[in-house]
Amino acid sequence: MSSASTQRVLTGVTTTGILHLGNYVGAIRPAIAASREPGIESFFFLADYHALIKCDDPARIERSRMQIAATWLAAGLDPQRVVFYRQSDIPEIPELTWLLTCVTSKGQMNRAHAYKGAVDANVAAGEDPDAGITMGLYSYPILMAADILMFNAHRVPVGKDQIQHIEMARDVAQRFNHLFGEHFVLPEANVEPEMELLPGLDGRKMSKSYDNSVPLFEGGEKALREAIARVVTDSKLPGEPKEPEGSTLIALFDPFATAEERAAFRAELRAGLGWGDAKQRLFEQVNRHIGPMRARYDTLMAHPEQLEEILQQGAQRARAIAAPFLATLREAVGLRRFQPLAAAAAPVAKVKAALPVFKQYREADGQFYFKLSAADGRVLLQSQAFAGGRDAGEWVKRLKTEGAAALAGAPVAKGEGVADSELADALAALVAAEAA
Ligand code: TRP
Repeated sequence: MSSASTQRVLTGVTTTGILHLGNYVGAIRPAIAASREPGIESFFFLADYHALIKCDDPARIERSRMQIAATWLAAGLDPQRVVFYRQSDIPEIPELTWLLTCVTSKGQMNRAHAYKGAVDANVAAGEDPDAGITMGLYSYPILMAADILMFNAHRVPVGKDQIQHIEMARDVAQRFNHLFGEHFVLPEANVEPEMELLPGLDGRKMSKSYDNSVPLFEGGEKALREAIARVVTDSKLPGEPKEPEGSTLIALFDPFATAEERAAFRAELRAGLGWGDAKQRLFEQVNRHIGPMRARYDTLMAHPEQLEEILQQGAQRARAIAAPFLATLREAVGLRRFQPLAAAAAPVAKVKAALPVFKQYREADGQFYFKLSAADGRVLLQSQAFAGGRDAGEWVKRLKTEGAAALAGAPVAKGEGVADSELADALAALVAAEAA
């Protein structure tokens, strides 16, 4: 299976809505091609927990995750080669999300683009900054970090808008590794080149929200033909020469054609091919390419039990990796099977880091003071005022070398709520460290 040189590539698709021709050319086709390269172990999943953040319509969630699963398989994803699963079939992912949530700084989440964008929109509209914002949206990047870190992915192919999320996943991984040991690979974003982007019918970026997209499989041949009929052209008549370069028609044609077919189509347009005929040519070209896939898509959609079976198998493979890894992570954070407690077996570095510290300082009143603080910042001991810094320093030195024995007679007061035993232990630790 995975050797040291194997690169793990992982990506997810949020299951809201359906996929269009632009998703196919820009994401699905290159991802499937990449998954066939040697030395790559691919993980593709349906981000249906992420879908719940954006959509509260159960029927739409149900439909979309099935359609997207069928689309990827119909487009040639090989579930033997790729680990293909639904996020919501992997209970280890939400569990890891919690472990990561506990080491993620809130300030960093405040800066996430999606959350900040929503806040800015609210403020601009004169609303409460957090109006309508769920904790799901707020924590979106942590769930995404769990998706990636769960499988120790090296590379994550994403669009530009997702780069920040990958950086956040790196930060969270680094923080966790620092606290609990080197468990996570730090993932890198692989940004898909923009040139692969297909324009929509009106020449703008293809997007459902612009109502300019070409459905990939849904609606069959008819929907494809109707969409292509709406491609915007200039008003040149049949017989007039047409400039192919820069036209939307050509941009839609090219990704589905060979070099010879591209040249031939251009020549015909220059020779006066009518736009109506040109659209028919475009339809045939695209349909020849995606027609066989659409047939597979329709079969899969008619047999949800087959889709279900494929995804259940994918979930098994994913969990075979996720479950033992999560067990290691639980162990690392201290969620362990009960056993006799190890006697102060903490690593040396930790003991050192946990030492209390003396601080000497001068107040605005011109007097000198010192205090002893625990590693967590609580004040264990507070001195009275000294006229000279040297007097304060001498007491610090005595306490450090003699420990609690020097307390009697020292001009100090215990911090609030501090037990005698804790203070004695803290001083003893300092004495030991001083002697070492
Ligand atoms: N947030 C991604 C998007 O909207 C989808 C996603 C969820 C994802 N988890 C992921 C992508 C993990 C890559 C890796 O496009």
